[in-house]
Amino acid sequence: MTDESRSGVLESARDRQQAEVLQAAEGFARGVHAADRSGHDWPHIERVAELAERLAEAEGADRFICRLAALLHDVSDPKLNASKEAGERLLQDWLHGQPISAEARDHVLDIIATMSYNGGHNPPMRTLEGQVVQDADRVDALGAVGIARTFVYAGAKGHSMHDPALCSREAMSVEEYRSERNQTAVNHFYEKLLRLKDRMNTATGRQLAEERHAFMERFLEQFYREWEGR
Ligand code: ADP
Ligand code: NI
Repeated sequence: MTDESRSGVLESARDRQQAEVLQAAEGFARGVHAADRSGHDWPHIERVAELAERLAEAEGADRFICRLAALLHDVSDPKLNASKEAGERLLQDWLHGQPISAEARDHVLDIIATMSYNGGHNPPMRTLEGQVVQDADRVDALGAVGIARTFVYAGAKGHSMHDPALCSREAMSVEEYRSERNQTAVNHFYEKLLRLKDRMNTATGRQLAEERHAFMERFLEQFYREWEGR
């Protein structure tokens, strides 16, 4: 066997193994997310995995790592587990049972730990793969799907869709601001969604975010017109 054909055989064995791991990850994540109604349903995971793969290709990132991290990115969410620690253990135990290198496993764990560390104090993603997966998750919060997710979330929480009196939350105290009573679907656009396009990591992610951002602005203009009965 020549060196070249030997490395070809090794490569296709590795590709097969990676495809099997991705399939197993799909089954695992589908089970975890099956009954979710908190904005982390399985279709969200599937969309983020597709977006992550597309972005990986465009940005020259490792497609296997990106798709795997995307499939697993919300598995350890405290909302889906008994506790934060239980969620982290679930993910770690699953990854330890997979035929992947310790390096790949640690990379995926690092991406997920960093991207879900929220509260506006997120440290920047350390690798291109992390940047890609975080962009994919953010893109899915934007555009038509992002609008739909926002209203589903607000409905599930019992928030109203809009309250013109709440538009300037800057003047409120912290208590007033945090109160459920003062949260509306439309406010979420100003607090998070319309800010995301300036926080994208990759050029491809930014382009997608800009398109979806423009669509959300058109949506809001029409929404306000109709709100006033025009
Ligand atoms: P993820 O980690 O996948 O971004 P989140 O838990 O932050 O998920 O949010 C799930 C979905 O619900 C997202 O589409 C998000 O924009 C939306 N959402 C989160 N908080 C609110 C809120 N206060 N009002 C309306 N929608 C929200
Ligand atoms: Ni997500």
